[in-house]
Parts: sequence; C-alpha cells; structure tokens
Amino acid sequence: NISNIKLLNIPKVHDERGSLAVIEKEVLPFDIKRIYYLYDVPSDSYRGGHAHREQESVIIALSGSFEVTIDNGKSRERIMLNKPTQGLYIPTHTWREIDNFSSGSVCLVLASTEYNEDEYIRDYKTFVNQLLG
Ligand code: TYD
Repeated sequence: NISNIKLLNIPKVHDERGSLAVIEKEVLPFDIKRIYYLYDVPSDSYRGGHAHREQESVIIALSGSFEVTIDNGKSRERIMLNKPTQGLYIPTHTWREIDNFSSGSVCLVLASTEYNEDEYIRDYKTFVNQLLG
C-alpha cells in the first residue's frame, strides 16, 4: 500500500437536472498552474510512464474509466478511476502509468507546475536510482 497517494473526494451538487462537481482551493493539496486532458484515447493506449521531480498532480476520470498504476519504487498499486467526483492525488517522485481506457473516456489532470520537460523522469531505472539517492 502506497501511503502518500490520496483519493480526494470532490464535492458535487446533484438535482434532477444533473450533477455539478466543484473543485475549490481547499480540496487540493497545491495551487493549480496547468490543466490538461486526454481524450480520443484508443482503448489499447498506454500513457504516462514517467515520474516528476517537481510536479504534483490530481487525475480525474471526467468521463468513462481507466486504470492508473502507481509505483513509489518499493511497491506498485493499480487504481481504477471511474467517478468524476474522485481525484487521485499523485505527489512528486511517483511513477505513473495509465491504461485500460474505456471508449470515450476523458482523463483530466490538474498540475502544480507549468509544463517543463526537464522535471520529467521518463526512464524507470533513473527513477529508481534517484530514490536510492
Ligand atoms: P506525454 O508526457 O507523453 O503524455 P502522457 O503523460 O499523457 O503519456 O506528452 C505527450 C506530448 O505532449 C509530449 O510531446 C509532450 C507534450 N505536452 C505538452 O506540450 N504540454 C503539456 O502540458 C503536456 C502534459 C504534454
């Protein structure tokens, strides 16, 4: 079990017209600098496959479902995301992979940093070696 990842509960307002979910400051462990989303993803796609030196993020299945594999260098956990009111918080120095996308799924990512390729760790061995110091 990986302790520093968290499932955040996003409050929603539901009535006969539908549902409205709200992400306010207090729901998130960081200030948002960037938002991106994956859509039109083929079901056999494999995304992620990196860790970050600086970026923290929250991943939300806005529509449909997919599975996130989280790896802290010691253990691995596979988490199915399929609720727009659930956000998976991923701290820095955490390897993530995303696959098993359902048809029409949308993967929203809230990020704590601007895009900067230099803070990506895209090689698994490098990732593990960095953790060992
Ligand atoms: P990539 O990191 O491979 O996506 P994922 O983590 O979902 O598998 O990014 C795909 C491409 O998009 C890559 O060329 C970098 C670019 N990109 C940006 O230009 N800005 C961004 O904010 C992100 C997240 C990616």
